[in-house]
Amino acid sequence: MEYTLSDESPRVLVVDDEAVIREIISDFLSMEGYVVKTVGNGEEAIKELETNIFDIVITDLKMPRVDGLQLLDHIKNMDREMVAIMMTGFGTVETAIKAMKKGAYDYILKPFKMDDVLLVLKRGLEQHRLKLENIQLKETLSLYKLSEAISANLPFDDMLEIILDSTMQVASADAVQLLLTDQHNNSFKESKRKISPGILGGDATDLGEPDMDRLMALFDEDSPVIYHGHRAQVMFLQLPCAVTFESYMAFPLRAGGRIIGILQVFSFSKGKKFNEGKRKLLTILAGRAAAAIENAMLYTDLQDTFKQTIQSFAHALEAKDPYTHGHSDRVAEYSEAVAKGLQFSLKETEIIRQAAVLHDIGKLGMRFEELNKPQKLTAEEYQMFKQHPTMGRRILEPIAFLSDIVPLVYHHHEKFDGSGYPEGLAGQDIPLGARILAVADTYDAMTTDRPYRKALPHKVAISELKRFAGTQFDPMVVGIFLIVIEKYRKECIEQGKSVPK
Ligand SMILES: [Fe+2]
Repeated sequence: MEYTLSDESPRVLVVDDEAVIREIISDFLSMEGYVVKTVGNGEEAIKELETNIFDIVITDLKMPRVDGLQLLDHIKNMDREMVAIMMTGFGTVETAIKAMKKGAYDYILKPFKMDDVLLVLKRGLEQHRLKLENIQLKETLSLYKLSEAISANLPFDDMLEIILDSTMQVASADAVQLLLTDQHNNSFKESKRKISPGILGGDATDLGEPDMDRLMALFDEDSPVIYHGHRAQVMFLQLPCAVTFESYMAFPLRAGGRIIGILQVFSFSKGKKFNEGKRKLLTILAGRAAAAIENAMLYTDLQDTFKQTIQSFAHALEAKDPYTHGHSDRVAEYSEAVAKGLQFSLKETEIIRQAAVLHDIGKLGMRFEELNKPQKLTAEEYQMFKQHPTMGRRILEPIAFLSDIVPLVYHHHEKFDGSGYPEGLAGQDIPLGARILAVADTYDAMTTDRPYRKALPHKVAISELKRFAGTQFDPMVVGIFLIVIEKYRKECIEQGKSVPK
C-alpha cells in the first residue's frame, strides 16, 4: 500500500518478506503522516533506492537472497547519510548488534508495538536531519574556503588544489579532474586531478578521455552535464581502465564569454549517484572557480611579461658589454642566496633577484669602449661611470611594476660608511637589498677577469670582503655572505658547475 503526502513528509522504505508486517507498518506510518513505500525483498529495495530518495529504511534482517545485512552494505556504499533500522526476531539479537556495528542506526525486536517503532523512527529521523545539517555545513565551508582562496591571491597551483579539494568534498566524489585551455584556446589539457586512493584499482590513475565535441555541444546548451551508468560511459572516447561509471558530472568554467576550463567529477562506487542538489552546489562552485582561475591566469601573464621585460633588459646590456656577460646572472645567484640566508619572503627574494639582474642597466647609456679599456679611467670617464646608477633609475622609473627594484638599483654603489655614490647614504639608510647587491656585485667583480686585471682567487676575494666589512660593506651582510657562499659553491660543484677558484 502506498500513500502520497506533501513533500515535507519523511520518506520511509519498508523492506520485509512478510506481507502482513509490511501492511501494518505502512498503514500505521501513513496515518502518522509519513510517505511510505514497501517492498518484499532486498533486491527490490536496492532498485527502489536507486530510483527514489528516502530518508530512512526499515528492513527485516532475515530475507531470502539479499538479506538485511547485505542491504545495509549497499546503503552505506550508496548514501552514507541514510538512516537504516533493522527488524529482527528474538533469536537473532546478536545479528542485530552486528548490524549496528556495520552502521545501522538501531534495531526493533519482533514482535513489536507500533509506538516503539514510531519512537525509534523519530529518533532515526532526527539523526538523519543532523547528518544532513552537518553535510550542508561542510559544503558551505568548502565554498567559503574557495571564496577566500580567490581573494587571497594564492599561487596558481595552491588555488587549483583548493578548487579540487572543495569539489571532492562537496560532491563526495571518487575523483575530480580539472582541464584548462592552452594559451590559444585550441584545446583542453589536464591541469590537475585528485583520485580517492585505490578507487581505480591499485595505483591506477587513468581517468579516460572525454569526448570533447560532445561535451562542448552540451555546454552550448548552457547546462552542466550529469549522467549515470551507461549514459556516462558514452561521454568518453576512452574509458578509465577496470572501472565502470556510476555517475559523472562536467561543468564548464566560463570567463569573459569563453570556456577556459572543464571540471569533471566522477563516481565509480556502485549506487553512489550524484543528485540534483550536488549539481546545483557544484554549479556555484564552478562559477567561483572560473573567476579565480581567470584572475590567476591574468596575474601569471603579467608576471611572465614582467620577467620577459627584465630578461630583455639584461640581454640588451650584455649585447653591448661582453664583460658583463654572465655577471648579472651570477650577482643574482649570490644575492638570492643571501636573501634566503636572511629568510626573506619569496616575494622579497624575487625583488632582490630582479634588482640584481638589472643593477647595471644604467650602463646602457654609457660608451663602453671607454669603460672597458685596459688603462685606468680618466677622471672624466670615472665621473661618467658613476652616473650609471642614476641612469639605471631613469630607465626603470617609468615602469610601474618595477618600482620595488628601482631603489636597489639606484643605491647599489653606496658604501656602509657613507663614502659611496650617488647619494652618499650610510648604514641602515641604504636599503638592505642594495647593501646585499653591493657585496654580491663586488665579489663577482673580484673573482672574474676584467680588462685591466685577472680574476682574484675565491679566498682572496673573501678576505677583501672581510677587510672592508664595516667601511665599504654592511658587516652583517658580509657575515651572511661568507656562510651562504660556501654552501652555494658546494652545491655548484656537486652539480658540475664551475665556480671561482
Ligand atoms: Fe654597478
